[in-house]
Amino acid sequence: MSAPNLLTPGHIGGLATPNRLMMAPMTRSRALAGGVPSELAIEYYAQRASAGVIATEGVAPNAVGLGYARTPAIETAEQIAAWKKITDAVHARGGRMFMQFMHVGRIGHAANRYTTEPLIAPSAVRANGQIWTDALGLQDFDAPRALESSEVPGVIEGFAQATRNALAAGFDGVELHAASGYLPMQFLSSGSNQRTDGYGGNVQNRIRFVVESLQVMIAAAGDAARVAMKISPAIPFNDIQDDDPIETYTALVKAVAPMGLGYLHVLRTPPLPNIFEVLRPLYPGTFAVGGGFDFASGNAALASGLADFVVFGKPFTSNPDLAERFASGAALTPFDATTFYTPGPKGYTDFLPASAQSA
Ligand SMILES: Cc1cc2nc3c(=O)[nH]c(=O)nc-3n(C[C@H](O)[C@H](O)[C@H](O)COP(=O)(O)O)c2cc1C
Repeated sequence: MSAPNLLTPGHIGGLATPNRLMMAPMTRSRALAGGVPSELAIEYYAQRASAGVIATEGVAPNAVGLGYARTPAIETAEQIAAWKKITDAVHARGGRMFMQFMHVGRIGHAANRYTTEPLIAPSAVRANGQIWTDALGLQDFDAPRALESSEVPGVIEGFAQATRNALAAGFDGVELHAASGYLPMQFLSSGSNQRTDGYGGNVQNRIRFVVESLQVMIAAAGDAARVAMKISPAIPFNDIQDDDPIETYTALVKAVAPMGLGYLHVLRTPPLPNIFEVLRPLYPGTFAVGGGFDFASGNAALASGLADFVVFGKPFTSNPDLAERFASGAALTPFDATTFYTPGPKGYTDFLPASAQSA
C-alpha cells in the first residue's frame, strides 16, 4: 500500500474519515451572552463538514473556565441545546466533530464572564498581558486565586461533567485543551505551577492534573477513543514558561500513551522545531500535527510517517472546502486576521467554497 496523503481516507477517534485533515480548534468570538453559541455557528461549522474531523473553538467546561469575550460554554441546558443544533447540522452534511474543552484558568477578565467567581489557577500568579473586553476595551488579565488542594478534584470532575454534556449535545468526542497557557498547561508548567502539594513540584506531580482530567473524561465517555488532547510544548503564549519542556512533555506523553486516546494533537512552535520527532516515537496512537502546514508539507508529514493527521487552522477560516480545494488544486483564499474575533457573519460565514465563487 502506498504512503497516505492528506486525501487518503483515515481513522480518528473511532471514526472513519474521508481524508486526513483536521480543522483546528479556533476561537471565533461569535457566541451570545451567557456562553451560548449563536445561530451563525451552525452555518459556520456545517460549511466545514468535509474536514476529516472538526475540532470546535475552545469551549469552557463551565462558567469559571470562561475568560474571553463572546466565547461559549457547555454547562447549561440552553448551551447544550444550542450545541446540539450545530452537531446535527455537521452530521447532516456527513461531518464529524470533537468539542475542545478550554478552561482558561488564570487567563481572563471579569468583564467577559457570566459568573462573579474569580479566576482560578494552580498558584496565585497573575499572567502578564492584556485581554479584550467589549465593555472596557483592553484590560490587564485579572489576578487568579490559587486552588486549595481539596478543590482540585472538583475542577477535574468539571471535565467529566463537560464530557457528559458534550456527548449529550451530539459530539463524536471531546478534546482537552492542554496547550496555549490555559489551566491544564498552567499545571504542567513550572512557571505558573508553584504548588507544594501532590499537583506541583516534580514533573510527575505537574502532569497529574492533565492525566487525571483525561482519566475522568474517559470514564465519563465510556470509550477512550472519544477523548483527545492538544499540547503545545514550549509555546510562550499567555505568559507561560516551563524550565524544561522536553522533560515535561516526554513524561506526559509517556503517561498518556497507554490510555488509548482518540488522538494526540501536537502544535509545533518555534522554540521546539523538532518536537514532532521527539514525541512521535513515544506515542503509538493517532498523532495529529499542526502549526503552519500547507498541502505540500502536510502530505510530506503523512508520507514520512511523522503524523497520521494534519491540523489546519487559519486556512480553514477562509476555505470552508479546504479538502476539496486540495483535491482539485483550486487556489486557496487568503485568511483575514482582522475578522478572526469580530462579531457577526463577516469573515465567518461569508467565505464560500470554490464551487460557489465566480470565475
Ligand atoms: C483565530 C484563531 C483562534 C484560535 N483559537 C484556538 C483555540 O480556541 N484553541 C486552540 O487550541 N487553538 C486555537 N488556535 C490555534 C490553532 O488551533 C492552531 O494551533 C494554530 O492556528 C496553528 O495552525 P495554522 O498554522 O494552521 O493556523 C487559534 C488560532 C486562530 C488563528
